[in-house]
Amino acid sequence: MFTNQTHLQHLLRPDQYTSEEQYRAELRHLFQPAWHPLAVKSDLARPGDFLTFDLLETPILVRNFGGELRAFLNVCPHRHSRLTDKPRGNTERLRCQYHGWEFNAEGRTGKIPDARAFRPWDRDNSCLRRFAVETCGDVVFVNLGENPVPLREWLGAVWEPWQDYGGDYRHAATWEKDFPCNWKIVLENSLESYHIPEVHPKTFKEYSAEENSWHELTDTFTSFRTVPPSDWPTRAGNWMVRRLGRPVENMYWHRVRHPHVTGASLDVMRIMQCVFPTGPATCRYRSLFFTLRGARRGPLAWATYRFLRPIATAVAKKVFDEDGRIYGGVQQGLVASPHRGVIGTREERIFHFQEYVTRGCRGPRELTVAADRA
Ligand code: FES
Ligand SMILES: [Fe+2]
Repeated sequence: MFTNQTHLQHLLRPDQYTSEEQYRAELRHLFQPAWHPLAVKSDLARPGDFLTFDLLETPILVRNFGGELRAFLNVCPHRHSRLTDKPRGNTERLRCQYHGWEFNAEGRTGKIPDARAFRPWDRDNSCLRRFAVETCGDVVFVNLGENPVPLREWLGAVWEPWQDYGGDYRHAATWEKDFPCNWKIVLENSLESYHIPEVHPKTFKEYSAEENSWHELTDTFTSFRTVPPSDWPTRAGNWMVRRLGRPVENMYWHRVRHPHVTGASLDVMRIMQCVFPTGPATCRYRSLFFTLRGARRGPLAWATYRFLRPIATAVAKKVFDEDGRIYGGVQQGLVASPHRGVIGTREERIFHFQEYVTRGCRGPRELTVAADRA
């Protein structure tokens, strides 16, 4: 059942999906304090493995130092080069690609070619800037803030359910795609099932009835839980779930930790998705996809896992691509829109998301004023 019985105000104005000022406020107030899921532990399994990202206008490098994951600004203190331009790799030492300065696990300089040329040594300008790294299940999160709250505290209610991203579920694929739209369009699309018959007509056909749907709505997190509609291919899936030693729950859960981290779960899969603004009207959508492996071992369980993985991955990718086709049109509509918009009861999680954005960027007083006007 939905919480609200009447339609809700579309709190965000169209210009808040296009303006530079809003984008800057969101980067500062919503994204700077947030944790960002970027990778899985197996991406960085061996000492020396590294990944680089352009995260919220900040180039970062995450690396395995003797079994411990560390994140640094991917910028050298010598003459500002990126340490590496490679998206991923493995190196014995962390060395800048330009003049070969080396850095240890603390981000301090090690070997420097022709070090005498830098006497007296400028200690204050010799360290890499470091960022916090923590994991939830197998997912590696990074925070760009100075003194972040611990990941567990930040995730709050989703910490526990997201522990099994890893565990019984094994990483199968990572997708990343840039879209010509504001990040909130992607996030809001993930918060409602209303678009299913139009956007996914062949994949799902219908959305769940209200009596089979439950929303949980809080300040920092919302969830949607439903019994999947009968046309979803559940029978073969249920057989595989039992073969892999998991109980069949036959429940779809979608959770979001505002502003931008979502987790979707079905018995056969887990998907963690995160959308990053890359400009006022552009974003990057990153998906970490896991399929059920379960605790059971032996040839039948192995064969079931190997069979399930590509099918589940293909279905999830199809849904990802179908949603991807709508975002550009929504952005173009917003640019030209004379309307104030409206949110239906099935879309009520969007209202809570917009409240979070409004509160975070403008402060509580202006939110009250906006509510009074409604
Ligand atoms: S810029 Fe990195 S070593 Fe020179
Ligand atoms: Fe969708």
